[in-house]
Amino acid sequence: MTERIVQTIRTVPELRDAIAARRANGATVGFVPTMGALHSGHCALIERAAREHDVVVVSIFVNPTQFNKAEDLEQYPRDEQGDANAAASAGATICFTPSVEEIYPTDFASSVRVRGPLTETLEGQERGVGHFDGMATVVTILLNVVAPDVVYFGAKDAQQALVVRRFTADLRIPVEVVTADTVRDADGLALSSRNARLSAGGREQALAISAGLQAAAEAISDGSATSPKDVAAVGVERLRAAGITPEYFAITDAETLEPARQLSGKLLIACAATVDGVRLIDNLTVIANREAATANR
Ligand code: PAF
Repeated sequence: MTERIVQTIRTVPELRDAIAARRANGATVGFVPTMGALHSGHCALIERAAREHDVVVVSIFVNPTQFNKAEDLEQYPRDEQGDANAAASAGATICFTPSVEEIYPTDFASSVRVRGPLTETLEGQERGVGHFDGMATVVTILLNVVAPDVVYFGAKDAQQALVVRRFTADLRIPVEVVTADTVRDADGLALSSRNARLSAGGREQALAISAGLQAAAEAISDGSATSPKDVAAVGVERLRAAGITPEYFAITDAETLEPARQLSGKLLIACAATVDGVRLIDNLTVIANREAATANR
């Protein structure tokens, strides 16, 4: 049984009723949470969910509590109709587009916090742990109202996906968390809703981010770097050559996000940088200490 008629729903009771009706017919539910400005990366997640489930719910909600800068929230691209069309074409069944008041009523007073390096390093250090509190809280609310079998995240936000895995396990939220590979343009730039704000020159400059990550991964696989510090230096050099000073260029354990002490096991190479006034993040996961280290792009 496969249903592909997109329905836009704005309230929690209506969403619960719509999903319950489909569940009653035996449907399984895949869920793709988004903040809109859908690009091919989101569409790949929706298409995968549509291949794997009868019902695909896509939430489109620019979550104010995960932004640490008011101007970043204001400038976040919004295109409800374009998003609904893109979600429908990719195979969504339901678009959930709640108002801020629907998610956070005036008496709302709760928060979900994951402690430790998963939230305090990298993005947590740069944007403040409040970013992940806001993300974890809204994703918990969305998981509670959608109650999907599987929720899909992109590997570009690797830290976010790890945080979601942690709190869904800790809070016993009965959902499978899938992290799908980052979708890139042919020249390597990781797809992001923020790319729309890059000028042509800024986009060209931003290519140094994926190139820097790739150079760092190669320095591990060809043995030319022998410590995490050397690997980071290779990547940073590539960014600096393009006139970019990264906020961080880190080599960490891919599961715990603790700084890597040596080049072995599954490592995350993660970078954040502002290019052309647009803050971008990207990462690669590599398996070190193998004859040929493999980079998961
Ligand atoms: O990755 C995003 O777009 C957001 O962080 C998410 C998961 C939709 C929560 O607001």
